[in-house]
Amino acid sequence: MDLFTKTLFLCLALTLANGAPAPAQDAAVDGGDASLPDRCAGIEFDAITPDEKGNTFFFKGAHLWKGFAGPAVLSNESFKELDDIHHIGHVDAAFRMHNKDNLDDHDHIYFFLDDKVFSYYNHTLEDGYPKGIQDDFPGVPTHLDAAVECPQGECMTDSVLFFKGNDVHVYDISTKAVKTKQWSHLPVCTAAFRWLEHYYCFHGNNFTRFHPVSGEVNGTYPKDARNYFMRCPNFGHGAGHKVPKCSETKLDAITTDDAGKTYLFSGPNYMRLDTRRDGLHGFQITRTWKEVTQGVDAVFSYDNKIYLIKGDQIYIYKGAAHYTLIEGYPKTLKEELGIEGTVDAAFVCPNEHIVHIIQDGNRMRDVDLTATPRVINRDVPLPISPIDAALCGADGINLFKGSEYYNYESAMILAMGRIRAIPKPVTSAMIGCED
Ligand SMILES: *[C@@H]1O[C@H](CO)[C@@H](O)[C@H](O)[C@H]1NC(C)=O
Ligand SMILES: *[C@@H]1O[C@H](CO)[C@@H](O)[C@H](O)[C@H]1NC(C)=O
Ligand SMILES: *[C@@H]1O[C@H](CO)[C@@H](O)[C@H](O)[C@H]1NC(C)=O
Ligand SMILES: *[C@@H]1O[C@H](CO)[C@@H](O)[C@H](O)[C@H]1NC(C)=O
Repeated sequence: MDLFTKTLFLCLALTLANGAPAPAQDAAVDGGDASLPDRCAGIEFDAITPDEKGNTFFFKGAHLWKGFAGPAVLSNESFKELDDIHHIGHVDAAFRMHNKDNLDDHDHIYFFLDDKVFSYYNHTLEDGYPKGIQDDFPGVPTHLDAAVECPQGECMTDSVLFFKGNDVHVYDISTKAVKTKQWSHLPVCTAAFRWLEHYYCFHGNNFTRFHPVSGEVNGTYPKDARNYFMRCPNFGHGAGHKVPKCSETKLDAITTDDAGKTYLFSGPNYMRLDTRRDGLHGFQITRTWKEVTQGVDAVFSYDNKIYLIKGDQIYIYKGAAHYTLIEGYPKTLKEELGIEGTVDAAFVCPNEHIVHIIQDGNRMRDVDLTATPRVINRDVPLPISPIDAALCGADGINLFKGSEYYNYESAMILAMGRIRAIPKPVTSAMIGCED
């Protein structure tokens, strides 16, 4: 594995479609300094929340942990007014606001202490805070146990779930209406966390996944958080996440599907770029496309399907939330697309029916996906070789080569082949690497 692959994917793989864990991918662990609390000892968290950048904070007493790996630090170093004012030394609950209608609040983090609420953005306390909980969230009780955002689509409207005992107060952000439900089948949550579209109630050193509307729990819970949300010695599955340096980028493939999900592939792993709000997390390719066990050479999306190419084989998967291999696949590239040999990169532009296949270093071969049988309609030389990965989107075509990319306005201009675009370094904004 190259360095990019290694650093990218030291990471957490929590929520398989069926709720089962993915295997551990890294040996480094938390713990060490005896003067600090050790989350591997089995801690009951006070609160868990992401910030506006997708960093996750785990709170316990006067301390917090940033991310899924690393030691505890004092909370007041990151959120300095937290105990200046109160000297309480802990938070009861915390959540990140999801409010697309009011961008003044969107992505702020809210902390709850006794009867007070604190709103932070960019780790700075907002003017006018702390406030009484009643002043900001009328109808929500004081001395909360937990809180979690629930965006529209997952809840009926942009909402916050506040937990106190077995009561759940569902707060509608725009109308400020509160509905109280009793989820007595759930343990009392001391912290609640939304991560990658799933909802987790933390209790003791365990957690239980629940449905944010019905409270329903499916699968075998509770599970020990140390196996999933942190890296601990002698705990199987947890791992941390480290974003790779942009200068060490080495992609195998990249594609955006019809639903707007962008997948980046490198070695045995993939990462989704469109869920950045929850931080970036790498997963094994086999987690989502279980038959694709040897990595990929090229991937493209077309007509609600994703096409993964490895060697002379092509795998076509259907679906949105869960991908299913279409019966009869994998097939050979010859059979499916009428092309021979291996593929360096492939892309389809939005709303088009031509797949552009880059092969043999610098050949671009076009195949019309609506034709039967499929044949090469055009075969042109490219000004750049070899290419690792290619993506076509609103900003044209990006051809990736190591840590650089070349942008072309259209396939037509690329096919004319005479102009070599100026290489630019890949950026964090494009592929989530670290500048
Ligand atoms: C931060 O919290 C610690 C422990 O509660 C306290 O000793 C320290 O004085 C606090 N620092 C600041 C800057 O408030
Ligand atoms: C965020 O805070 C840092 C330091 O406190 C400051 O330098 C930076 O300008 C702030 N960014 C924004 C967008 O307010
Ligand atoms: C955690 O869950 C296990 C079952 O998975 C249970 O035996 C244990 O008592 C739980 N611990 C706490 C502190 O809730
Ligand atoms: C729980 O499982 C049932 C049956 O498989 C399914 O219909 C339901 O949507 C699941 N609920 C959650 C919260 O995943």
